[in-house]
Amino acid sequence: MEAAPSARNILIFEDGEQVARAATERFIELAKQSIEAQGRFSVALSGGSTPKRIYSLLASDEYRTRVEWPKVHLFFGDERTVPPDHPDSNYRMANEAMISHVPIPAENVHRMVGEGDAVTNARLYEDELRVFFDGEAWPRFDLVMLGMGDDGHTASLFPGSRALHEQAAWVVANWVEKFNTFRITLSAPAINHAAHVMFIVTGAAKAERLPEVISGPRQPDRLPSQLIHPETEGALEWFVDKAAAAKL
Ligand code: 6PG
Repeated sequence: MEAAPSARNILIFEDGEQVARAATERFIELAKQSIEAQGRFSVALSGGSTPKRIYSLLASDEYRTRVEWPKVHLFFGDERTVPPDHPDSNYRMANEAMISHVPIPAENVHRMVGEGDAVTNARLYEDELRVFFDGEAWPRFDLVMLGMGDDGHTASLFPGSRALHEQAAWVVANWVEKFNTFRITLSAPAINHAAHVMFIVTGAAKAERLPEVISGPRQPDRLPSQLIHPETEGALEWFVDKAAAAKL
């Protein structure tokens, strides 16, 4: 069941399953519109557990045939510094849940390489994006899917990390103190130039942070999700379940 959307485009659903189904429908609708308008649909996928159900739904018999997969280009918003078969790999999760089950050409799957040197890999990924978004000052994804951690992070933009201040690079290797490792991530300005951004947030563990991020004082160093405000009015939507929305 869907509540009326607020001025800030916050869509609140009964539970995680309803969130996943609504987000899946939005993905399909945006894919259709983008393909009609420009012959392709470029999307940056999120890692984490919340989007996994969306990927499975997209690959299911119920939804799979509603997407023109050969015209879809899948990118990643962030990646852990592990090989693609590692349990922590965002690519592995997306591949197992969706990519390996849909008729998308291999060359349309733009994996962030996690193995090897993170700084080099971030640069190479930016090069790949610059070829795809030929001549653009910033990437213009048709859709960026994001989760939010209960510490307020999004993609791999973690509280207090250097990447929060990135103003030039599209992709960065970001040192994440709390995990003692690099993560590779789109920068906030790269995300903000997307045509649509979808935050998918479920579960009671996010309830405390969500109102702080959405309507609290601006503290992006502490709450990196506050950095996400796309250029285009109305381009940001929050797909939230009742548990996560409890304190909104
Ligand atoms: C990742 C992410 C990350 C994630 C949040 C929320 O690679 O971990 O892209 O930003 O979206 O941590 O994760 P959950 O949806 O699992 O809570």
